[in-house]
Amino acid sequence: MEKMKPLVIGDLVIEKPVIQGGMGVGISLSSLAGAVAKAGGVGIISTAQIGFREPDFKENPLKANLRAIGSELKKAREIAPKGVIGFNIMVATRNYEEYVKTAVKAGADIIISGAGLPVSLPEYVREAEGKAGDPAAGLKTKLAPIVSSLKSVSVICKLWERKYQTTPDLVVIEGPLAGGHLGFSREQLAELEADTTDTAHTFHKEAYEAEIRSIIDFVKKLGEKYGKMIPVVVAGGIYTHEDVLRQLELGADGVQVATRFVTTEECDAPEAYKQAYIQAKQEDIVITKSPVGMPGRAIRNAFLKQVEAERKPPKHCYQCLERCDRAKIPYCITDALVQAAEGHLDQALLFCGSNAYRAERIETVQEVMDDLVFGI
Ligand SMILES: Cc1cc2nc3c(=O)[nH]c(=O)nc-3n(C[C@H](O)[C@H](O)[C@H](O)COP(=O)(O)O)c2cc1C
Repeated sequence: MEKMKPLVIGDLVIEKPVIQGGMGVGISLSSLAGAVAKAGGVGIISTAQIGFREPDFKENPLKANLRAIGSELKKAREIAPKGVIGFNIMVATRNYEEYVKTAVKAGADIIISGAGLPVSLPEYVREAEGKAGDPAAGLKTKLAPIVSSLKSVSVICKLWERKYQTTPDLVVIEGPLAGGHLGFSREQLAELEADTTDTAHTFHKEAYEAEIRSIIDFVKKLGEKYGKMIPVVVAGGIYTHEDVLRQLELGADGVQVATRFVTTEECDAPEAYKQAYIQAKQEDIVITKSPVGMPGRAIRNAFLKQVEAERKPPKHCYQCLERCDRAKIPYCITDALVQAAEGHLDQALLFCGSNAYRAERIETVQEVMDDLVFGI
C-alpha cells in the first residue's frame, strides 16, 4: 500500500488529500465537516441557508445565516481543534460578499466558491482581513475557485492576475458526475448520461480526463510563474480508493468528495435523507432543471414528479439566489431543500451525485476516509 502524499495548500498541510465537498442547506454543517477534519481531511461547511434552524430564519434569513456561520465553525472546531475547516460559498448567493466577509472574520481556513465565477473573492477577503490598502500582503484565508473547464479556469485566473495580482491557493475541478447544481449545459450532460450505465471507460470519460489534464497543466504553469505550488483537486463521481488513485495518476493533488459522505453517521442530513440514498437505484438519479435554470442532479422522488407536472408557487422568499425570478419559478428551491434537511422527503428536493445509488449502509467518516485513502 503506497502512502498518499499530504495535500499542501500554502502553509496548510492536510495529512489525507481528501476535501469533503460543501453540501447546501443542512447537509454539510459542523458535524460532518468537523469529523472529516478530525480524520485528517478538509471539512467544508456550506453556507447555503446555513441558518435554517435559527428561530428568526423565516423573517430575516440573511441575519440568521450570517450568525450560523460563526456558530457552525465554532462547533466544528470543537470536534477538530487542529483540523482544517472552511466554507463553500456559492457565487450565485444573494449578498455573496457579506457571506464571504463573515466567514473570513469567523476564522475560516479556506473558502471554496463555485456556481458562478468568484471574480471579486480576493477583494472581499482582503477587506475582511483588514488588508485592503496593501495588495502585496498575503492572505491568511485560502481561496479556491471551482471550475469545470479549461476555459473557466483561465478566465478566473487571468481576472485575478489582472485585478489583484494574485492566484488561487487551490483549484477545484468539478466534473459532470457531481451532485447539486452542475456547471454543464443540459446538452453536455445528456451526452454524458448516455454513457452512465457503463461508466468504466467511456469516450466521454476520456474526453473529460483530457480536460482535467489540461486544467492541471494550466494551473501548474501559473504556479511556476508566481513561484508557488497551486494544488488541484478533482471532484465529481469519486467514490472508491481506485477513483482517488485515478485522479492522482492524472496529476491531481487530491480529491473533493461529497456524495460518499452523505451516508455517514456524522453527516448532518436526517436519517431519512441518508436512507433515500441507500434505497435509490441508478435509474432514480436524474438531471433536473433547478428553479434558477441551472441543471442539477437529484433523486427522482414524488416531489420531483409533482413539480414536473404542476407549478408550486412559492409562499415566501428566503432571499437565497441572485438570479431567482419569484414570479416564474416552478417551486422554491430553499423550501424544497429545507424540507429535505428536515426529513420531509415527499416535499423535498434530494440533491445527490451520480454515485448515490452505490451506498449500501451507513458508515463512519473514519471508515470512508480509510477506504478512500488506503482502500481498506
Ligand atoms: C447533496 C449535495 C449538495 C451539494 N451542495 C452544494 C453547494 O451548496 N454548493 C456547491 O458548490 N456544491 C455543492 N455540491 C457539490 C459538492 O460540493 C461536490 O463538489 C460534488 O458533489 C462532488 O461529487 P460527488 O458528490 O460525486 O462526490 C453538493 C453536492 C451534493 C451531493
